[in-house]
Amino acid sequence: MAYTAHDVVDWTGYLFHAEVDALQDWARSLPTDPVVVNIGAGNGTSGLAFLQARDDLFLWTVEKQRESSPFGCLEGEWAVLEKAGLWPCRRYGYLHGDSSAEGRNWKEGSIDLVFVDADHSYAGCKAHMEAWLPHIKPGGLLVVHDYKKDERYAQPIEGKAPHPKAWHGVDQAVDELLIGSYEIVGRVDTAIAFRVPTQAEVKKTRVRRAVGKRVNPKEKSDDG
Ligand SMILES: C[S@@+](CC[C@H](N)C(=O)[O-])C[C@H]1O[C@@H](n2cnc3c(N)ncnc32)[C@H](O)[C@@H]1O
Repeated sequence: MAYTAHDVVDWTGYLFHAEVDALQDWARSLPTDPVVVNIGAGNGTSGLAFLQARDDLFLWTVEKQRESSPFGCLEGEWAVLEKAGLWPCRRYGYLHGDSSAEGRNWKEGSIDLVFVDADHSYAGCKAHMEAWLPHIKPGGLLVVHDYKKDERYAQPIEGKAPHPKAWHGVDQAVDELLIGSYEIVGRVDTAIAFRVPTQAEVKKTRVRRAVGKRVNPKEKSDDG
């Protein structure tokens, strides 16, 4: 039987099983030939999940660590892809470097989905999102991992699960930058997915705001 991202979960527990399914569902919701950017190779769980979700998906992994590290590295992801029979892979590219710098220098065109699971500090997570958000297509998805782990760990946990350490920096960065500004399209365990608005939606919001400004409450009649 084929080696899958669920086998990697059973081995390392970097993601919940349901998160693997959610990443694959979100990937399958994208248009034809989607481009996905996976920030943080880790042990290759998310990378393999995306590549196994559909055959027309092109995956870029962005990772600062090339060789063996307890936190994850490019070579770890490559080993997992090889074990799954996906190596060498023509649907895969990688950037070896700091994700925020790589995002600012990105010249490979627009992206359908970005998955953020790298630097879990407030400044680091925020910098990842700010660097990559401008490259996501209108209607595309930004997915962040390890959001509100406290809430998830207050619920029963079954089977292999990620380490319970909460990442309050991730919570704060997501709350400040995304909550209330972007539509939430899904939340599974600690993975949360936001949709980047289309041009038409941005225009509509601007018009609504402009109309709102023209109605000055002080100038309204008493019954208004
Ligand atoms: C939690 S692991 C990612 C797990 C991965 N999503 C998986 O499913 O296996 C975090 C990874 O992000 C990498 N990382 C941390 N800070 C980074 C940065 N600023 N730029 C690029 N990679 C970074 C780490 O080296 C590590 O491999």
